[in-house]
Amino acid sequence: MSSPNRQKKIMCIGAGYVGGPTMAVIAAQCPDYRVTVVDINESRVRAWNSESLPIYEPGLHETVKKARGRNLFFTTELDSNIRDADIIFVSVNTPTKTFGEGAGKAADLQYWEQTARKIVEASESDKIVVEKSTLPVRTARAMERILNANEKGIHFEVVSNPEFLAEGTAIADLLNPDRVLIGSHDTDSGRRACGEIVDIFAHWVSEEKIITSNIWSAELSKLTANAFLAQRISSINSISALCEKTEADISQVACAMGMDKRIGNKFLKASVGFGGSCFKKDILNLVYICEHYGLVEVARYWRSVVDINEYQEHRFFQTMVRVMFNTVAGKRIALFGFAFKADTGDTRESPAIYIARRLLEENAVVVVTDPRALDNARKDLAPYNGAVEYVSDPCTAAKGAHAIAVLTEWEEYARLDYAKIYQTMVHPSFIFDGRNILDHRRLHALGFNVFPTGKPSLKHF
Ligand SMILES: NC(=O)c1ccc[n+]([C@@H]2O[C@H](COP(=O)([O-])OP(=O)(O)OC[C@H]3O[C@@H](n4cnc5c(N)ncnc54)[C@H](O)[C@@H]3O)[C@@H](O)[C@H]2O)c1
Repeated sequence: MSSPNRQKKIMCIGAGYVGGPTMAVIAAQCPDYRVTVVDINESRVRAWNSESLPIYEPGLHETVKKARGRNLFFTTELDSNIRDADIIFVSVNTPTKTFGEGAGKAADLQYWEQTARKIVEASESDKIVVEKSTLPVRTARAMERILNANEKGIHFEVVSNPEFLAEGTAIADLLNPDRVLIGSHDTDSGRRACGEIVDIFAHWVSEEKIITSNIWSAELSKLTANAFLAQRISSINSISALCEKTEADISQVACAMGMDKRIGNKFLKASVGFGGSCFKKDILNLVYICEHYGLVEVARYWRSVVDINEYQEHRFFQTMVRVMFNTVAGKRIALFGFAFKADTGDTRESPAIYIARRLLEENAVVVVTDPRALDNARKDLAPYNGAVEYVSDPCTAAKGAHAIAVLTEWEEYARLDYAKIYQTMVHPSFIFDGRNILDHRRLHALGFNVFPTGKPSLKHF
């Protein structure tokens, strides 16, 4: 396992939600490798080197502490680390393009391309370059052209190793992945490079879970996995709308459906909608690629997954306004949760952003509470500065409120003393459960008017 002569050097460019945790786990599991994570964002790097890490993930702090300073390093120094590295993972952001051709759909590859050019510039020897970011299928071809157009006679072998971790469970997912996928070219150097990456994960992942494929399949598998996950959420959410019209209960429908082994019971929770930096971006990217290849029907099919998500967020907001007598102006509304899911402070594409903005446009008084995401919420709602309150204690947030909207499935929200909360609220009091985590009958018995997602509402009028 350990190299007899020298420690292998791994570098990762991009110390974000993927690069940071992934490299921390590699370093912790592979003491025989030296792992350096480089980012251009100085404050992010400073935070990675401090006691207050730039992102929250259960178990991350312990993992970082285990390896930091031993064989895990965070720095802004690119050139010398590129020069010294044997293997370079690239985990920079690939957001949706906001300008020019493909704006609003295509992946913006400028950060990736800048990185590739930097690698060429600073390298003095052959290297393996690993696509860790989620990229459009066939990006490796473009990257190879840029990398191998050097005049130094250096060979860069591009390998795809997409990351399947989910935020909130990143460390558990990395330690015990469903699979690790490595795509490479079917050439001698491609197979050798693939073997080098397999060796890293083989330190802690069992052999049958490390799968290899051609490079295009690996690139496309990541986009497709995210598209299928998001599609399941949109499918159950579309049925939740029908449940609300027919007195069917989405949890009962999901349970009955999910017991069919062909369907499975995971990812069948109706909610206010999916968020996160990846699902929407990756589906839109898939749509763009399909359109590029003239597959109009396929593109339209996947686009509808995003459409249903937007519809679900809008439907949630509309229900709030409609049942609160068609006006929320001047009404205090407590948003329980702002992160796009529990156990993360990440608010990128969180449904809470949409709901908060729409309520603010209706002149509601919005109070945001979240155990991890208040700093990000402040940035997301910066244009509404002064009109929003940020409160860390949910009971305080609900004081004097007309309504509570549960937007993130933080466990602690299910355990609050709602009898006490009810006493402090304006009556009639409303609860909109966008995650179906509360005890709706009990809340109704306490006096609340309860509006779950995809279930009959429980009202007192
Ligand atoms: N967040 C997730 O849950 C997740 C999961 C799987 C895959 N992915 C994919 O992984 C990639 C990274 O996602 P993320 O969430 O970690 O993004 P992020 O925005 O959190 O991190 C990206 C980092 O790259 C840095 N960066 C950008 N250009 C750079 C450059 N030229 N040199 C050095 N650093 C540079 C940025 O400063 C930033 O810190 C994306 O392609 C994403 O689709 C994300």
